[in-house]
Amino acid sequence: MDVQWYPGHMTKARRMMQENIKLVDLVIELTDARAPLSGRNPDIDQIGKNKARVILLNKADMADENLNRRWTAYFKESGLFAVAVNSRSGVGMKQIQNVIQEACREKLERDQRRGIKNRPVRAMVAGIPNVGKSTFINSFAGKACAKTGNKPGVTRGKQWIRLHKNVELLDTPGILWPKFDDQMTGVRLAALGSIRDEILQEEQLSCWVLDYIRENYPGFLSSRYPIGENGQAEELLGEIARVRGCLQKGGEPDYAKAAALLLDDFRSGRLGRITLEAPPETGI
Ligand code: G4P
Repeated sequence: MDVQWYPGHMTKARRMMQENIKLVDLVIELTDARAPLSGRNPDIDQIGKNKARVILLNKADMADENLNRRWTAYFKESGLFAVAVNSRSGVGMKQIQNVIQEACREKLERDQRRGIKNRPVRAMVAGIPNVGKSTFINSFAGKACAKTGNKPGVTRGKQWIRLHKNVELLDTPGILWPKFDDQMTGVRLAALGSIRDEILQEEQLSCWVLDYIRENYPGFLSSRYPIGENGQAEELLGEIARVRGCLQKGGEPDYAKAAALLLDDFRSGRLGRITLEAPPETGI
């Protein structure tokens, strides 16, 4: 990913969000189901206050199913509507329609009281880079979508996608900037490949991933690689290098290559469905 979150970039993203949010009734916020808190910027709570809100745990197909359920429940308990989805395959899309109606019930009832009929809910999608915003918009809008032209009262150039008679989606997603409240947030996002790894070297990062997986998902590593799961993480990385033929000229393990291979296997889901954080106040 080549987005650098230097302050200028962040200010622009924030300004865009603040402008666009005025135009909508509902914010559909995407986060990564494999690290739902690390993958969201809590500033959205402030920016999106007074708007209906729905949280989508995207890439749920790569996350731990049990934790998907716990995270959905966690967000619901926090007063937000939440759905686990797979934007690539479209799983979960139907459910979102109902959740949107529910999340916007107040607005719909208010319209009805004022005698406004069939004014569609206007929604925008928001999330940090690479969380799947474009994939979601394509998947949710589907083939049947029609772009509506500019409308009076709407900033020129804004495109709305008519989803069905009740919902219109702003075609440009809001980009939220990752927020590094603590170092672990950055480590999780780097492990997912959501940010360029500037916090840790790939080798360190892969050791963290190895430790995390064998502690929380025993057996996952050994079912992918013919290795044991005991010992220091560096030793495991060395083992992976050997069994996968990542060797230097003299036959020594090439740790950098093995780290890249492990991270790629993890990020593409080949190590299994793994979630990197559990809802607060509970152990994984
Ligand atoms: P963005 O607009 O938020 O920046 O994200 P984008 O849609 O470009 O998605 C980033 C990557 O995440 C894409 O993969 C996309 O296919 C993948 N993705 C999005 N949603 C899901 C999901 O629910 N499940 C899974 N497994 N993957 C998802 P890519 O490798 O960058 O591109 P490509 O291989 O799809 O071409």
